[in-house]
Amino acid sequence: MATNGIVGRRSFIKAVGFTGGVAACTNGGSALLAATAEAATGATAKTATNTESATRAARLRWWQQAHFGMFIHWGLYSLIGRQEWTLEMEGIPLSQYELLAKHFNPRPGAAREWAKLAKRAGQKYMVMTSKHHDGFCLFDTKLTNYCAPKQAAGRDLVREYIDAARAEGLRVGLYYSLMDWHHPDGARCATDPEARRRFVDYTHGLIRELMTHYGKIDILWYDVNLPLTPEQWESERMNKMVFELQPDILVNNRNGLEGDFSTPEQNVEADKSGHAWEACMTLNDSWGYSSADDNWKTPRAVLRNLVNCAREGGNYLLNIGPKPDGSIPEPSVQILTEVGRWLERNGRAIFESERGSFGWGNYAGYTRRGNTLYMHVYRWPGSTPAQEWLPFYQPGVVLAVGALTAKVKAARFLATGTPVKFEQSELGLRLTGLPEQAPDSPLTVIEIECESVPNFSHEALREHWPRHNVGIS
Ligand code: GLC
Repeated sequence: MATNGIVGRRSFIKAVGFTGGVAACTNGGSALLAATAEAATGATAKTATNTESATRAARLRWWQQAHFGMFIHWGLYSLIGRQEWTLEMEGIPLSQYELLAKHFNPRPGAAREWAKLAKRAGQKYMVMTSKHHDGFCLFDTKLTNYCAPKQAAGRDLVREYIDAARAEGLRVGLYYSLMDWHHPDGARCATDPEARRRFVDYTHGLIRELMTHYGKIDILWYDVNLPLTPEQWESERMNKMVFELQPDILVNNRNGLEGDFSTPEQNVEADKSGHAWEACMTLNDSWGYSSADDNWKTPRAVLRNLVNCAREGGNYLLNIGPKPDGSIPEPSVQILTEVGRWLERNGRAIFESERGSFGWGNYAGYTRRGNTLYMHVYRWPGSTPAQEWLPFYQPGVVLAVGALTAKVKAARFLATGTPVKFEQSELGLRLTGLPEQAPDSPLTVIEIECESVPNFSHEALREHWPRHNVGIS
């Protein structure tokens, strides 16, 4: 999928498959490609075990009210500063890449800054890469020496992160990449049964350590399950172990099973089956630190995405890519700080919202809570030049919501409580007497209290338009 001109990682993975696995495959390569591409998208996702689905609604409760989380991509690749795929994208010899482990020694306390920023930004949970595709573990493990405590850092960076998140009262998530470019069996497991056995045991073993050593973990965020199928990963057994160790945890769908939530990447797309979902997105175009990437989203763009997620009951997991020392790139700090300030004034329209079914707006997005509609105006239109011959646009600023079916009782600016005048007809709602300039920034929210659950019905609107046959001879 291409978003804003970026070819998404997942569409790349779908297109090329798993480099190591394909190289190791002497025949049946195209079958592997097809199988792995499906596995990577979760297209073949199997349903969860009964225990998982029985407790799902209760386990999801906090997460569905949270709506907003911080993703953190951080690891050896941050030292190079060209995103987290550098090893594969630039064909770096593994022996060279491994040298990074001798120099990755972030300053203590960095995770405290991330957690403080997340809190300020209004984010309710964090998800950090415990092991990315490069195979380097940021946590202490008995299963490999390729981990932060046994290399230059000399400390368990996952523990520091977890302590930091908890200190700010945030929920804790761990990202874990199944795909592994470093482990000797990471590619050949696709074709060699013994390698697969060893690699699957290693993978389950690392996950077991993560689920055992740090107290309560709130989210396990699997990533790329190439080059194996869910059956070969023994994903059901994997999840069963995870739930035995962490009964309240949430798992995503990227180990090839349905999981508790789906994970659209770099786009906001509600799960069509009604399953819980979380859109993950970068703040610029990169997950891992990229020194040259200055394509930052504006706070307005971030908030529009958040509104669009909340509109359909989804979550927004927004990424930071800290520098190798752990410091957060300044633009990320600024954007998230502004987002947080806005949420202090307008958070009710996001955090307490419920799934609604509103289409797009020509200058506003919508969320809802019970019978209350929230109109998030992201392009304040100012006044439309008043023309005698176009009485619909009277002097002054009018915002209009066509096709609103519920009867409106009251309207006000959410940030200040100042009442807003309105008129309603069967065609829709008109908010009048508004200021020339947007009263809030980057979005202005109007809280519209209705007598019943607000909905838009454009079909009904079309029927209400009296036809005068203009232009038809
Ligand atoms: C992709 C990428 C990866 C990133 C992840 C975030 O699958 O391979 O680099 O961590 O998406 O969703």
